[in-house]
Amino acid sequence: MPKKFLKICLASSELAPLAKTGGLADVCAALSVYLDKKGHDVRVLIPLYSSIDTTALEFAPNRALKNLTIEIGNHNLRYSIESAVLPATSLKIYFLNCPELYDRPGIYTSGPDEHLRFIMLSRAAIEMCQQMGFAPDIFHCHDWHTALVPLYLQNHYAWDRLFEKTKSVLTIHNIAYQGIFDSRILHDMGMRSLPQKLYQEDLALNHVNFLKTGVLYADLLTTVSPTYAREILEPTYGMGLQDLLRQRQQSLVGILNGVDTDEWNPRDDALIPFHYDARAISGKKKNKQALMAELELDSRNDVPLIGIVSRLTAQKGIELIQAVVPRLIQQRRFALAVLGSGEPRYEQFFSTLQHRHRDRVCYYRGFSNKLAHMIEAGSDIFLMPSRFEPCGLNQMYSLRYGTVPVVRRTGGLADSVQLFDPESGKGTGIVFDDFDNNALEWGLNTVLDLYRDKKRWRRLLRNGMAMDYSWNRQGQLYVNLFRQILDEGR
Ligand code: ADP
Ligand code: GLC
Repeated sequence: MPKKFLKICLASSELAPLAKTGGLADVCAALSVYLDKKGHDVRVLIPLYSSIDTTALEFAPNRALKNLTIEIGNHNLRYSIESAVLPATSLKIYFLNCPELYDRPGIYTSGPDEHLRFIMLSRAAIEMCQQMGFAPDIFHCHDWHTALVPLYLQNHYAWDRLFEKTKSVLTIHNIAYQGIFDSRILHDMGMRSLPQKLYQEDLALNHVNFLKTGVLYADLLTTVSPTYAREILEPTYGMGLQDLLRQRQQSLVGILNGVDTDEWNPRDDALIPFHYDARAISGKKKNKQALMAELELDSRNDVPLIGIVSRLTAQKGIELIQAVVPRLIQQRRFALAVLGSGEPRYEQFFSTLQHRHRDRVCYYRGFSNKLAHMIEAGSDIFLMPSRFEPCGLNQMYSLRYGTVPVVRRTGGLADSVQLFDPESGKGTGIVFDDFDNNALEWGLNTVLDLYRDKKRWRRLLRNGMAMDYSWNRQGQLYVNLFRQILDEGR
């Protein structure tokens, strides 16, 4: 019997390329596009941030979803839902238009109403389904921003038979961000009369924790790699949620993210000057020359180029780079192209490094998708020494682009990169275990030595380029899991 198509509502704070600060955006977009292509009815809601470039969007009139209101605590919020097709796909996106909350310079703020912005998103996603008479089989929430949906479905909207069969799934992309607020917001959460439903130890400390609430109530928990799913059961990685996650271990599954091969494919990437693939790899060298010329780096004598594209936060292991690279750059020949922004101490470090080694280091502070693609295509080596990494996408982009990843064995990095063994010729990158300076130094020395061994280097590149981390495989794992919990609920 043919399997029935699923009805899925996905609510997220980010969606590539419209609203993105990191991999959450890439994953929500690519997974939704995959589900849509496979024939599932997927309805995605994101806020209509004023930072979204709407020039390529054609909003369709949607009279039933205009002039709506939601009461959140003492706030009577007026909103409407617009819809438009995500460019270059057939996926229809729903936008939560509420200027009072989303007409701000960035996606996230540190303002006093940050909780309200995402309570609104969560409730509007549910009420959008009601307005459309859409009974989702699966409500897919992502990170703390929409983690209250499972609680709301089980309490505030439990009266609505529309959601009678709905199962909620919470995907944890990064447990370091939990959405912790002062318990004064209980009224806004709609929980003043239901405090017993929340985590009592937090309340005793005058806190509420959105992600933890999602972990308590979601029917199914997923995270973005099998290794991270194990790691977050331990105090080192669980960031305080490990005990609760252990209690829910039977409902926690790790699925590695995929690569959106429509966007990240060196064969037809519109953002890089020369196209190539594993069979015709000469274009890679040309991309390197073009990139180094653009960044004004000295490319003579086949100097290896190391690329970094990253949010500059403690998660990404920048402190190891700080400790190792200034010395190593004096001892060994390599150039460095860095793209990223974040904590001032790390931005300052890369600015100073660039200042000291003008023709060997280029640091671009900011966000540039084009430069991210050019660095993936033009670098020889990609550095990602993360302290923790739920999945990580750039190492998988690197593999596709024939750029050798140097990573620490944690989370999705451990699941996607295998240490190269020069004897057997097996493996796809350089992987080190410990989060310390010696380990990174070993990793960098090893990769720089290998670079000189042209035969082995070619083998290493090809091994990486042959890997398939596309959404065709990973997306199917989500569908299987969704079907499984729906079958179990019968
Ligand atoms: P995280 O979500 O923790 O930031 P991921 O590796 O999962 O890490 O995803 C990061 C995504 O954001 C990748 O698509 C990467 O190319 C992109 N990215 C990060 N920093 C920048 C930047 N400064 N400019 C452009 N893209 C960036
Ligand atoms: C998070 C994680 C990253 C992951 C991304 C998408 O931001 O830090 O490792 O790849 O989400 O799931």
